[in-house]
Amino acid sequence: MSKFAHTFLLLPVCIASLTLLPSGLSAAPASSAGKLFQANCSRCHGPDGKGKAMIHTPNVTDPKWQASHSDQRIISMITNGEKGTMMPAWKGKLTTAQIHSLMHYIRSLNSAKK
Ligand code: HEC
Repeated sequence: MSKFAHTFLLLPVCIASLTLLPSGLSAAPASSAGKLFQANCSRCHGPDGKGKAMIHTPNVTDPKWQASHSDQRIISMITNGEKGTMMPAWKGKLTTAQIHSLMHYIRSLNSAKK
């Protein structure tokens, strides 16, 4: 009888730790560029990339903004940030591949392409 009670006591504990484990391990990097943007950039650039006037982030959906910024400019901006502004450097925090995918994501936000 005591063995029976023991099992019933331990079972919920086991289930609890099993359900907690995956969420604790889910800190894997976000796969898509959109998720990367939402996780790292949207707080300053807005969830839609339209920018926030208060901190002077550009509206990257504006076709004029898109036309005046080369791919290389966008990549170097994300990589190195911009001194004297709030734009941080992402070198060392994001991989080159992630930075490239973010550049393509920013291109996809161009309102002229929608
Ligand atoms: C802490 C706020 C902040 C975060 C987080 C941030 N940015 Fe910025 N970003 C800025 C600001 C402010 C500017 C405008 C800088 C200026 O005035 O030239 C900017 C400018 C830019 C520009 C425009 C560069 C140009 O030449 O005009 C790009 C592209 C950009 N950010 C991409 C990103 C990406 C991609 C991320 C996420 C990985 C990100 N930013 C995260 C604040 C931020």
